[in-house]
Amino acid sequence: MVKKAHNMIVSEDHFITKLHVIPDERGKLCVIERDKGLPFDIRRVYYLYDVPAGTDRGSHAHLQLQQLLIPISGSFSVRAWSRYGERTYRLYEPNVALYIGPGVWRELMEFSSNAVCLVLASMEYDETDYIRSREEFDRHMKNA
Ligand code: TYD
Repeated sequence: MVKKAHNMIVSEDHFITKLHVIPDERGKLCVIERDKGLPFDIRRVYYLYDVPAGTDRGSHAHLQLQQLLIPISGSFSVRAWSRYGERTYRLYEPNVALYIGPGVWRELMEFSSNAVCLVLASMEYDETDYIRSREEFDRHMKNA
């Protein structure tokens, strides 16, 4: 069943979430808080930038990690596969983010020249949390 909490669909493991924006005549302020667009505590922040045209990133899944991907500048696409299906998202608005939970294979591609992908993550970097081979991911999905 698909349930809605705040502005999120919580039964899927990859979905778009709209972040809270406070606009006034001086511009816009976007705020992200635990349980208001962010369903986890932030333990790590990193960002991708200066990605050469035509270069793909990602191509892995995680066992436990939850992430929120935010197109702080420019645009890029994310193809995501999980037991809830496959979907390609185009991220281009700084207040429209993509949540990716555990067990989601993701590929990031089609970065615009000025793209910055900010990632908020629920865990510190841990290579043992990665599934880096597609065959291993397919096995993981069968056993899930
Ligand atoms: P990688 O996982 O290949 O990046 P992406 O999936 O975004 O294409 O990571 C590139 C390198 O950076 C790799 O050697 C692991 C390292 N790394 C860290 O040390 N800490 C981190 O938080 C991340 C995300 C990567």
